[in-house]
Amino acid sequence: MEFRGSSLLSTDQLSLDAVQSIFHKAKQIKERWDSPQALRIAPGERAPVVAHMFFEASTRTKTSFMLATHRMGLRPLDVGIGTANSQIKGETEADTFLNIQAMGPDLFVVRHGGDGDLAGAIRESQIPVISAGEGIEAHPTQALLDAFTIQENLGSLQGQKILICGDIAHSRVARSNAELLVRMGAEVGLCGPKLFLPESLVGFRIFQDLKEGLAWSHVLMVLRVQHERHQLGSPSAFALDEYRKLYSIDEKHLRFFSAKGIILHPGPVNWGVELDHAVRGDVRVKIFEQVRNGVFVRAALLALILGIGEE
Ligand code: CP
Repeated sequence: MEFRGSSLLSTDQLSLDAVQSIFHKAKQIKERWDSPQALRIAPGERAPVVAHMFFEASTRTKTSFMLATHRMGLRPLDVGIGTANSQIKGETEADTFLNIQAMGPDLFVVRHGGDGDLAGAIRESQIPVISAGEGIEAHPTQALLDAFTIQENLGSLQGQKILICGDIAHSRVARSNAELLVRMGAEVGLCGPKLFLPESLVGFRIFQDLKEGLAWSHVLMVLRVQHERHQLGSPSAFALDEYRKLYSIDEKHLRFFSAKGIILHPGPVNWGVELDHAVRGDVRVKIFEQVRNGVFVRAALLALILGIGEE
C-alpha cells in the first residue's frame, strides 16, 4: 500500500507488509518519543492541518490522535460536534464533513456511528481520512494498536490463540481485530452468550464456557457490553447478573488462564461487568500499555500518510 495521501478506513486495505511498516514506524516513534526533534516536521515546512471530527464520543482514540498531532508539530483542528456546530440547526453529518472538506484540511480523523451518506462522502474524499471508528463495522487503528501490543509482548502473532470475550456482535473492535489477527497467523476464539455472538461464526472457535476458552488461549481480549448499540427490545434478553456470573473476568476465572498470557481491553471498561474490580492489578492486564501504544501507532499513521520524516 502506498501510504502517502491514502485513507485508512479498514484493516483489510492493509497488506501484512504494510502492517509491519506501520509497526516499524510506531516502534521508532516510541523509542524516540522523548527526543523533542525526532518526530517533528522539519523547521520551515508548512505544518499540515489535521481535522478531528468525532460524531460519537471518545476518550482514548481522540486524545491519542490529538496528542500525536501536537507532539509532531502538526496543526490540530477540533471540529466541535453536537451543540457547538450547525448540526443543531439540522445539518447532516455528511454535509458537515463536506463543508469542512471544502475548507481544505490536509487530513481527517473521523469517528461516526455508521451514517451511510457520511460513509459515502468519506469514501469519495480527495483528502485522506483515517477512520477513528465506524458504527459496528470497523475500528482499524484499535486493531492495529492491539496487534502491535500483542507482538511487543509475545514476539509474534503467528500461532497465538486469542480469545475475544464479551459483546462481540455489537463491536467494531472485534470485527477489525478478528480480520487482522487471523491474517497475521493467530487463531481466534469467540466467547460470550449467544445474544452477543456474530451471525457468521465461520473460521472461529466458539466457547460458551469461559473457563474452557481461558484454558485454550494466550491472549484474552475482553470487550465492553455496548448497551448503547443494543436494539430496543433486544436487551430484554440480556440479564446483567447472569452475564456477570458466567462471563465477568474475575480472579476465580483467571486461575484457568496462562500465567504468561496477556489481557487486553480496548476501553472504556465497565468495571464490575466484563472485568471484575479485583483483577485491575493483575500483572497480565495490559490496558494502559494498549492506550500508550495507541499514541505511537496513530502517530505512525499520521507520519506515513502525511509523508513526515521520510528521507
Ligand atoms: N477504544 C476506544 O475506541 O476508546 P474511545 O471510545 O475512548 O476512543
